[in-house]
Amino acid sequence: MGRNAGSLRLRYGGTPAKLESVAMLGWEIDRDALTAPAVARNRDAILDVLRRVLPVRGTVLEIASGSGEHAIHFAAALPGLTWLPSDPEPEARRSVAAHTGRAGLGNILPPLTLDARAASWPVGRVDAIVCINMIHIAPWTATEGLMAGAGRALSAGGILFLYGPFREGGHHTADSNAAFDESLRARDPDWGVRDREAVTAEAARHGLIAAERMAMPANNLSLTFRRAER
Ligand SMILES: C[S@@+](CC[C@H](N)C(=O)[O-])C[C@H]1O[C@@H](n2cnc3c(N)ncnc32)[C@H](O)[C@@H]1O
Repeated sequence: MGRNAGSLRLRYGGTPAKLESVAMLGWEIDRDALTAPAVARNRDAILDVLRRVLPVRGTVLEIASGSGEHAIHFAAALPGLTWLPSDPEPEARRSVAAHTGRAGLGNILPPLTLDARAASWPVGRVDAIVCINMIHIAPWTATEGLMAGAGRALSAGGILFLYGPFREGGHHTADSNAAFDESLRARDPDWGVRDREAVTAEAARHGLIAAERMAMPANNLSLTFRRAER
């Protein structure tokens, strides 16, 4: 993270985010609370889907919480759920904790240190798992780990929700996604926009049945999977 006078940057997953200092206005600012500009653009469209696919009550594990802005937005809107954020990066977890502290919500737990690739996750059974904009900004092994972990952690009938760009039928769904894919692979050859069919096949290997594909703004998809009976 690069710091300079009055600003703060986070590069999680290579995505720059900037929080301007408002100290000159005399406001208190928590420098750990990061902003990811995409969150303000996508959180309400995602929330519309979550309202429909998540249970009314239960525990939701969020994988790759990033700044934590989604966590507070969704937890505030879905008060019957207990939100359990996580991220492998300390900077992200500090940001989640800072946003959570400010939001003062009673239904968000402290962020867990969780790498999706871990053979064992530090959680018991959960009712749903939400993972937004992670699988293309991580090696394919993160998708494999996510599916294996979701298969272990979800209760029967539990929901796995994914959001992000995907290829379909072997093709990008938009020129902007193709350009994004190229930029991801230039940053790290192991990253890249994934094939929806490959993700769905990996999910099926762990008892996660594809339930819904929903087109979202800016050429993204929401994918919902349901944990089969054990
Ligand atoms: C582009 S950010 C997305 C963050 C947030 N979900 C959002 O939409 O703003 C990607 C996130 O994936 C996390 N990440 C990368 N590899 C991961 C892994 N193997 N397991 C869990 N999270 C991972 C990064 O730490 C980062 O917070």
